[in-house]
Amino acid sequence: MRILSVDLHDFRNIAQAHLDPSPRATVLVGENGQGKTNLLEAVYFACTLRSLRAARLADLVRFGAGSATVAAEIEGSGGVRRVSVEVAPGLRTAYLDGKPRDRLDEYFEGLAAVCFSPDDLLLVKGSPEYRRRFLDRAAFNRWPAVLAEARDHLRALRSRNAALRSSPPEVEVNFRDRLVWAGARLLRRRRDLLAELAPRVEEAFAQIAGPGAPPARLVYRPAAGMSLEGDEDALAARLAHVIEARTERDREKGYTSAGPHMDDLALEIGGRGARPFASQGQQRALVIALKVAEIENLRSALGRPPLLLLDDVSSELDPQKNRFLLRYLTTLPGQSLLTTTDRHLLEAAAGPETAYYRVEGGTFSATI
Ligand SMILES: Nc1ncnc2c1ncn2[C@@H]1O[C@H](COP(=O)(O)OP(=O)(O)OP(=O)(O)O)[C@@H](O)[C@H]1O
Ligand SMILES: [Mg+2]
Repeated sequence: MRILSVDLHDFRNIAQAHLDPSPRATVLVGENGQGKTNLLEAVYFACTLRSLRAARLADLVRFGAGSATVAAEIEGSGGVRRVSVEVAPGLRTAYLDGKPRDRLDEYFEGLAAVCFSPDDLLLVKGSPEYRRRFLDRAAFNRWPAVLAEARDHLRALRSRNAALRSSPPEVEVNFRDRLVWAGARLLRRRRDLLAELAPRVEEAFAQIAGPGAPPARLVYRPAAGMSLEGDEDALAARLAHVIEARTERDREKGYTSAGPHMDDLALEIGGRGARPFASQGQQRALVIALKVAEIENLRSALGRPPLLLLDDVSSELDPQKNRFLLRYLTTLPGQSLLTTTDRHLLEAAAGPETAYYRVEGGTFSATI
């Protein structure tokens, strides 16, 4: 996949913009608050139909405007396609070659984007929710069907939780089956993804941390002692059993206390939890390793690297890690969009094909 052009309309602080990204690195340079992250968010949104940071879709619409659009021309194995997405409060419409699409498998075909920002440190430092989100986004990049599957799970979960709180006890049983099957499917996706990802994370971490450094390890920690062994039927049977056993407690609390939405992904360095024990530098190295692993995994599954979006990453890293990351980027035969307030920080990633844009007050102008 390669983005040939991007057009934005009323997206965040960007009233109108047109960019022709380089087939390799495109660097967006500007002061704080000018619209650099907004542009990455728009591109990520067009590729995944998910927002990077907005709590509500309406946040993406420029203040005072009725709707926002992002459109991109994408060159893939089947030729050039035009994807676009329009957002208005409470509404999101995806178009492929000008026609609205409800079924999204065609829309997503060949699209994959990985974003890396200073907030990703929360993968190590933050609550389990950040790690679950990382897993599910990575699973979605790997298998686009995960988007619908995860949504299904969320709906089933909300329905059961509502029934736990407000219906007579016998009604809740009717909501379990859907939740159990959706949960089992999500668990299988996460397990399959981790089987691919974990060795790559360990390898990337060893490269970043250098010889003799303690190794990194990823361990999936299901809530309520669930085991991840077996096929989807076995997972569903076990999940049904766990949910059954906890129903009394769930009713008292008013929510479902076991299942993929409660699980964690433990990140360890040298056999100890990275959140409580690892140094700042080790934590950053681990986050880079997680991202590099996802990129390498997609690269081997898709036959080419995903689109990379690097938001202000270099300012957060020490020179050694910054060098590692930028050198790694230059070895990738794919496309990337990088933001910075100081273009010197990204010099190691620049090549003859690098394109530069100056970002000011939501406008983008090509520079040399
Ligand atoms: N819906 C919206 N409508 C209009 N402006 C918005 C909207 N959402 C955010 N903004 C504004 O967009 C501006 C640019 O934000 P952005 O995060 O892209 O800056 P940035 O260039 O990445 O800055 P930094 O270097 O500090 O990260 C902010 O000042 C913010 O107030
Ligand atoms: Mg920013």
